[in-house]
Amino acid sequence: MADKLFIFDTTLRDGEQVPGCQLNTLEKIQVARALEELGVDVIEAGFPISSPGDFKSVIEISKAVTWPTICALTRAVEKDIDVAAEALKYAKRGRIHTGIGTSDYHIKHKFNSNRDDILARAIACVKYAKRYVEDVEFYAEDAGRTDNAYLARVVEAVIKAGATVINIPDTTGYCLPDEYGAKIKYLMENVNGIDKAILSTHCHNDLGMATANTISGVLNGARQVEVTMNGIGERAGNTALEEVAMIFQSHKETGIITNINSKKIYSCSRMVSSLMNMPIQPNKAIVGRNAFAHSSGIHQDGVLKNRESYEIIDPKDVGIDDNAIVLTARSGRAALKHRLSILGVELTQEKLDETYDAFLKLADKKKDINDDDVLLLVGKDRTETHRIKLEYLQVTSGVGVQAVASLCLNIAGEKFEAAASGNGPVDAAIKAVKTIIHRSMSIQEFLIQAIDKGSDDMGKVHMQVEHEGVTYYGFSANTDIIAASVEAFIDAINKFVN
Ligand code: KIV
Ligand code: ZN
Repeated sequence: MADKLFIFDTTLRDGEQVPGCQLNTLEKIQVARALEELGVDVIEAGFPISSPGDFKSVIEISKAVTWPTICALTRAVEKDIDVAAEALKYAKRGRIHTGIGTSDYHIKHKFNSNRDDILARAIACVKYAKRYVEDVEFYAEDAGRTDNAYLARVVEAVIKAGATVINIPDTTGYCLPDEYGAKIKYLMENVNGIDKAILSTHCHNDLGMATANTISGVLNGARQVEVTMNGIGERAGNTALEEVAMIFQSHKETGIITNINSKKIYSCSRMVSSLMNMPIQPNKAIVGRNAFAHSSGIHQDGVLKNRESYEIIDPKDVGIDDNAIVLTARSGRAALKHRLSILGVELTQEKLDETYDAFLKLADKKKDINDDDVLLLVGKDRTETHRIKLEYLQVTSGVGVQAVASLCLNIAGEKFEAAASGNGPVDAAIKAVKTIIHRSMSIQEFLIQAIDKGSDDMGKVHMQVEHEGVTYYGFSANTDIIAASVEAFIDAINKFVN
């Protein structure tokens, strides 16, 4: 008999904690709607006490989606729970996700406490949340490193207090798949009243085992998985939604079914990557650019004779449409609109007209416009609210000559020009910016990513700039990678200069 697995998506909470991935409320609503279409059961919409932005997003997402349960995170603190309940007031189905660290590391070093006290706080927070909502999920933070016997005591007590779902996070991504599966099995077999609640997996990917651990948890009795689109999340990320969904879709012998409409995976993945400026590694399972690309002669020959020789998933099943029309300067508005709808983006006529104008400008520089380009075109204008803007940039570089850059910055309406030389065009341009903006700052990370192929492609630049001990994230995309690099640098600077 088929066994339903609940998909709990935390892209907008655990995923959004990544520096540089923050979304505004409108963008979060866009992602939440895409997740609803994808068929997730629960959307963790935020941590309302953490910021007014998170509070507002939980309210607006609750209004914007119909079917999924909307979940709000709290600590085991009454004020957090009050604020979460307030944020959930428009949710058709609301869930409070509350909890506390249960490993000895957390008990001793984070709370300076003891097991009995933490147990009492766990029970109290569930009881308090139950005053507001029926559906209360409890998380035992760092359950991956929590002693199983103590964990079972906590789980039994919180179920008795009314928790409907129990989250067993491998917070540090430490567990081995067998160990994590055994933990779930132990709880299934040793907790009185376990049939009154659902066990949930929440695995981090620090050792690259998040998906394996999640699957092991499900095969041992967990019936909810906490996942993010593209596996995004702090450090090495969380379990990837698309991987878990396609594993159970491919392995029918497990009897596990989910509500995910796999044909919506690709569009949702691209939307999240584009809005969060989080590139997808080309060899990422299911959604990476190369996930279905066969380059070796033997593989290509095999796939042409019979796709199943080397492909276990039909790309169309995850929404990759290989008959996609390539957009060029000759494509009309209707073709652009159609491509956008495949990517899950619906625009008003006015926004479509604006996007089409930007599209024509890009198509003048670049022959074929791909999905990432299109998503970038509909993305926010990152410079709209910037105090510092790049007016012009000119660079001379080459072999046997010194690279020189001259540029002009517009700072709150006033223009400043500068020139500098460097050991390459980017170095020269960055030095020129620094001669205008005298702040201590150093580039920590600098990633140039070509979106597709070809010398006319748009390059995306991701940069992390350190200023007074804090790291600021900058991003830009441009067919000129030197310009994109300087714009990304300025994007980061705008976050600390006011
Ligand atoms: O990783 C973790 O332990 C978490 C909890 C707060 C649920 O994200
Ligand atoms: Zn987490």
